[in-house]
Amino acid sequence: HVMQELEKYNDGLIAYSLGNFIFDQYFSEETLRGKLLELKIVRNPFTQKIEVTDVEEKVVLLNKFFQPEKVIAARDVKPILKKEKKDENPCPKGNDEDDLLLFKVNLENEVGDYIPSDLVLFEKNICLRKVALESLKEMQKSAGKEGLSLIPTSGFRDKVWQKALFDRWQKANVAAVIKAVAPPKHSEHQLGTAIDLTTSSIESVSASEFFENTPEYKWLLNNADKFGFVLSYPKDKEKITGYKFEPWHWRYVGEETAVKIKTSGLTPTEFLP
Ligand code: DAL
Ligand code: ZN
Repeated sequence: HVMQELEKYNDGLIAYSLGNFIFDQYFSEETLRGKLLELKIVRNPFTQKIEVTDVEEKVVLLNKFFQPEKVIAARDVKPILKKEKKDENPCPKGNDEDDLLLFKVNLENEVGDYIPSDLVLFEKNICLRKVALESLKEMQKSAGKEGLSLIPTSGFRDKVWQKALFDRWQKANVAAVIKAVAPPKHSEHQLGTAIDLTTSSIESVSASEFFENTPEYKWLLNNADKFGFVLSYPKDKEKITGYKFEPWHWRYVGEETAVKIKTSGLTPTEFLP
């Protein structure tokens, strides 16, 4: 998805399109389209070579469960692009006034249908609770002064979105004992205060274990607590957290609690009441 151009290269074709893999955002229209090429392939009677004689570019529209829904001709895409809403806040608006800032959500505890009431949009496609976003921006600024870039790739995910991720992950990893994706209703991302971070030196890849070896990760280990963020799934704590080490996943709990958690040496799930 995120369709790009089609290039003729020698006797062949290259069709470009990008994807940011599983932690995608369903409300960004560009990522809800995929490129499809319909080709006519024939054997040239003179050279006996296989040749592509006809190419039609088509577009697959995906629904919010990432499933293909409809195929349309590429020329019909423009009106959809124009229809994009510009200023509206696309973040869901919950009417839940509960403040789950310190709620322990793990494999045992779930958050039900919770949707925060104060989700705000960050850049193009990430929603976070206001308080977490403000702190994230401060943290980015501070890291930026040291030449480091903290790039968020995923924030709030509702239970439906989480289910789609979880189902896909399970299908692909039937034998995995340690989880990498939380079951629906059990993800910190549903709190609107968890973010996945990456950085430019690893091509801004989302949820990547390579993040561990970046200066940005080291900086976060030393500084994130001052901005209220804690590492939810630390290294070698798989048995306690139930999840594999996720250097990219940081949860906002407020500065006071974050400092306490860090000083305690406990994982957030052990520390939180
Ligand atoms: N990857 C974390 C565990 C989540 O899905 O919430
Ligand atoms: Zn995460």
